[in-house]
Amino acid sequence: MEAKKYYPTKRYIEFQKNAISNSEIFWEKEAEKIPWYKRWDKVLAWEEPFAKWFEGGLLNASYGCIDAHLNSWRKNKVAIYWEDEQGNTKSFSYVQLHREVNKFASALKKIGVVKGDIVVLYLPMIPELVFSMLATVRIGATHTVVFSGFSSQALADRINDTGAKVLITADFGIRREKYVPLKEIVDNALKLAPSVKKVVLIKRTEKEVNKESGRDLLYSELVKDAETYVEPEPVESTHPLYILYTSGTTGKPKGIVHSTGGYLVYNHSTYKWVFDISDESVYWCTADVGWVTGHSAIVYAPLLHGATIIIYEGAPDYPYLDRWWEIIEKYGVTIFYTSPTALRMFIRHGEDWIKKHDLRSLKILGSVGEPINPEVWEWYYKYIGNERCPIVDTWWQTETGGMMISPSPGLELVPLKPGSATLPLPGIDADVVDDSGNSVSHGTKGYLVIKKPWPGMLMGVYKDPVRYKETYWSKFKGMYYTADYAMKDEEGYFWMLGRADEILKVAGHRIGTAEIESAVVATPFAAEAAVVGKADAVKGEVIVLFVILKEDYKPDDDLKKNIINSIRTQIGPFAAPQEVYFVEKLPKTRSGKIMRRILKAIVHDKPIGDVTTLEDGASVDEIKTSYEEFKRMLKG
Ligand code: PRX
Repeated sequence: MEAKKYYPTKRYIEFQKNAISNSEIFWEKEAEKIPWYKRWDKVLAWEEPFAKWFEGGLLNASYGCIDAHLNSWRKNKVAIYWEDEQGNTKSFSYVQLHREVNKFASALKKIGVVKGDIVVLYLPMIPELVFSMLATVRIGATHTVVFSGFSSQALADRINDTGAKVLITADFGIRREKYVPLKEIVDNALKLAPSVKKVVLIKRTEKEVNKESGRDLLYSELVKDAETYVEPEPVESTHPLYILYTSGTTGKPKGIVHSTGGYLVYNHSTYKWVFDISDESVYWCTADVGWVTGHSAIVYAPLLHGATIIIYEGAPDYPYLDRWWEIIEKYGVTIFYTSPTALRMFIRHGEDWIKKHDLRSLKILGSVGEPINPEVWEWYYKYIGNERCPIVDTWWQTETGGMMISPSPGLELVPLKPGSATLPLPGIDADVVDDSGNSVSHGTKGYLVIKKPWPGMLMGVYKDPVRYKETYWSKFKGMYYTADYAMKDEEGYFWMLGRADEILKVAGHRIGTAEIESAVVATPFAAEAAVVGKADAVKGEVIVLFVILKEDYKPDDDLKKNIINSIRTQIGPFAAPQEVYFVEKLPKTRSGKIMRRILKAIVHDKPIGDVTTLEDGASVDEIKTSYEEFKRMLKG
């Protein structure tokens, strides 16, 4: 790769300086760009670590995403193009989307959903998923989407945390022609989660599934005679739009709560800056709506802008390796947003599949979820963007609600640099600090922090203010702790260096090592478990598991299968380890902490390298001795 120098432009520096030093004025102007029923009284009420953005303002997300477009030319343009693996399609104009959302909102009301309720969605990538989200928030309820790859146990844990009474699901999801039995998973989950009294069932297929009378209601029946207009419920800016569970460093996932006003304002602005989105854009984000990217990038931000969205249900390489490129060509996609994992998979199969398609409609290409290595960046730029489209590598998290560090071609502010997420977006005061919270000089690895509240930030962890405070606001005084490592280069560009905590990114999916370890020790034969990530050329990271068996058990393949199965049923198939090792002992510090860096060095077949006390407080000798011992044990 050619070594080029890229500096933040003078315009960026000035824009950013103004946005940060006059932050409330800056965000107030941004807030004026979305529709409100009542203007806010205060831009920001900040009682660290709790932020109330646009306090006193009233709005409705469903109104902003749909109704607001009905008085313009957008009324009859396509809001959603949906397509499945087999090429079946559906499309909905804004006015049709309005009708579907209203009918379902009316049905939800009839079955007793009221403002403040939480509705759980466990759905495949079908248009009804978007209808369900928007119908829920139209009547002032809050949605919790659970990724449909999660198992019944994981679904039950999330339902139990919310205490939800209503759940929306489908009979099956379809992937690689396989039917994923969503309704059956729900039935099993509800045995463990009795709060749910009503299940709305969407028929995705013709196949029969179990229906529990009195509890399960058919979506098609509910909407048949439903009203076609339901007044949107104006909610306070701080009213929770959604709760999304994400992995943390304990076995228990955290319910990340996002506001309505701050979240929508933030996403509205950042999609303009980063993707230059407009009502003429055909926007395709390939994420699943079950993750935060799907919430912001498939539903809320593009619809707020009146764009056309693509929803594709299926695997990227099925039935052919050019499925995605075919879709881009067919619908004239202008903005494409995907993950490095998917790109790395395509790179392995060469460019012929891509060359079959005319991708000239593309204007901006995005990447999210994990670091994009410069080689993949260059490939994306050359073969998908034909050296015409800027690549926006967007760094953010479930907790941040929206993109935080990214180029902003919509503002023409930031020269790109392959492999770097470039610079913080306007109004985002990001920095890299050492263990004491002091800014580090360029070229030094440190912790990524955010030093000022921003409108998209989480309001908290559901029902757990203490965990919220401890996880994000205790490591450094007055700073939001991202738990990511980063480094700034000499031009001030940010380079993301992976998680600083015990969270893995497997094919872009966020998984806590503690979640997997607790699924393993829940089996009758495992005494202890430790999980580490191993670098993988396609998935970024894969899971490697070390298990100490209880005394009566001897290692064998059946036990291995059993343990993997337990992870699949307790979390989901995507959390299954790629390698499992039975060991007699794990390398631990004197205080009992597992020294994961030793395990990591071993799975990568590398020396222990630079030994610092940064990670676990173990002494240098302790680490070196344990490393040698553990290596000998594994070999023996
Ligand atoms: O480690 C960072 C990584 O993904 C984490 C957040 O995961 P999640 O909450 O699932 O949200 C993912 C989609 C927004 C971060 O802490 N991450 C996300 N984007 C990038 C990234 N790492 C490097 N570069 C990125 N662009």
